[in-house]
Amino acid sequence: MALKLRRLSNALGVEVCDLDLRKPMSESTFGEIYSAFLQYGILLFRNQDISREQHIEFSRRFGELDDHASLPRDRHPDYPEILLVTNRPNPDGTPSESRYTGRSWHTDMSYTTRPALGSLLRCYNLPEVGGDTLFANMYLAYDTLSEGMKKLIADLHGIHLSGTRKINVADAGEARRAEVMKLNPPIAQPVVRVHPETGRKALYLGEKVKRFDGMTEEESKPLIDYLNRHATRPEFVFRQQWRENDLLVWDNRCTLHQALGDFDETQLRHMERTTVLGTPSGYIAAA
Ligand code: OGA
Ligand code: MN
Repeated sequence: MALKLRRLSNALGVEVCDLDLRKPMSESTFGEIYSAFLQYGILLFRNQDISREQHIEFSRRFGELDDHASLPRDRHPDYPEILLVTNRPNPDGTPSESRYTGRSWHTDMSYTTRPALGSLLRCYNLPEVGGDTLFANMYLAYDTLSEGMKKLIADLHGIHLSGTRKINVADAGEARRAEVMKLNPPIAQPVVRVHPETGRKALYLGEKVKRFDGMTEEESKPLIDYLNRHATRPEFVFRQQWRENDLLVWDNRCTLHQALGDFDETQLRHMERTTVLGTPSGYIAAA
């Protein structure tokens, strides 16, 4: 079966049209889907009124799934493979821990030594307007650097910090700080990452990176800021304007994304994500 694809932006992304993910899918159709995933970085499936089981089952075809042990508060209570990204208050009325998930440029799980291959985010509830997500193509970001800059960054490693770690560390005591550091140590990742499947080089950075390994924050900041600004120029970006029952799949190894928060926070925005584990990358950095 030849898939019907519709490009989403000049930089990246395709919509896979006329496919019902509730129906069984042959290996060969999935093969075409996976090729499109590698080629375009993002796949959009619209009008997918799938169950959580179907979401998980389809996700498993991309690879082994994370059980989100590093984010226990954001897990679905009955499905460890599903991570909630929601502003729906907790049953006890306290605000959801995940209401600000993804609000800066990042790639999922980069603060671990097994960063995500892909993520599959399903939209359940949307505010009246906004709640968009931006995506940027990190192959293009790398390819458009000068040869001089490519040489300069070739061997650099960025230190990635988990969001949880930052929040907790900010207002925690020393003992709590040490515990959080142990659970989520800073992880160094190559700034130029070779995609394990396509073999292409991509920038692997984002706003969770505050310094390069072996350098101070002060020394690193100008170059990190430049590279992130370059990487997220409008011509490298696709803006997802969600509809209910959209399922969006992205390749975390060659894209960055950011939730915009461009909506009325009193209205419900509820998304659910599965995370496909990738190949090992990076190392634990000295604090
Ligand atoms: C994520 C994420 C962005 C959004 O689920 O990994 O960053 O717009 N979400 O909800
Ligand atoms: Mn994310």
